[in-house]
Amino acid sequence: MSADAMKRAAAAAALDFVEPGMRLGLGTGSTAAWFVRLLAEKVTAGLDVVGVPTSEATATLAREVGVPLTSLDAVAGLDLTVDGADEFDPDFNLIKGGGGALLREKIVAADSRRMVVITDESKAVARLGAFPLPIEVTSFGAVATLRAIAEAARRTGHAGALTFRAAPGGGRFTTDQGNAIVDASFRQISDPQALADALVRIPGVVEHGLFIGYASTVIVAGRDGIRRLDK
Ligand code: A5P
Repeated sequence: MSADAMKRAAAAAALDFVEPGMRLGLGTGSTAAWFVRLLAEKVTAGLDVVGVPTSEATATLAREVGVPLTSLDAVAGLDLTVDGADEFDPDFNLIKGGGGALLREKIVAADSRRMVVITDESKAVARLGAFPLPIEVTSFGAVATLRAIAEAARRTGHAGALTFRAAPGGGRFTTDQGNAIVDASFRQISDPQALADALVRIPGVVEHGLFIGYASTVIVAGRDGIRRLDK
């Protein structure tokens, strides 16, 4: 199975969690995009659901394929969010934000009764951190905030290169909210909770890509098929 076929298979397995009438959080990234496309096929066949997209990219895709959308503020909470991840550990802690959508992804996941993560076996790690941790920061004072992140990381026993994410066309990448992203290459995150707690105390940090305690199910596509892991 190709990498893309594995992503599609994980997304297809997540459809089992969808029930008529559900309000769904729609994740961002190549795996979540498969979920949106496959969900659209069900909608075309008559499934009645509504989605809240976690990025402009997902909103555009959902409109193209015909998944009805609403805003988070228009509904009283979501039933289910289906989203990808850059890494997951045995406790279902995640690194997210490789696609730059971590802030909306976390707001949507936090307002959902259940989060199902769709991944492939390349995302499974014993300990988070090989994937650089995305940290969304305000453009104002971004360099000062980067210094504060380095200090917070040091205090919690984490060290590594911190770089501003570059935009494909040059200059700094900006998120859907107009913020910058610092990618923190810690290699190993020994204490995700301590690091998360320290990062949220920095004024210029808007959000970070550590998702602790959000996921209740992880679907892992591998060359030998699909595994569903439940908490
Ligand atoms: C988007 O900001 C991310 O959190 C994605 O969910 C994550 O990067 C996974 O993306 P892929 O499914 O493309 O690997």
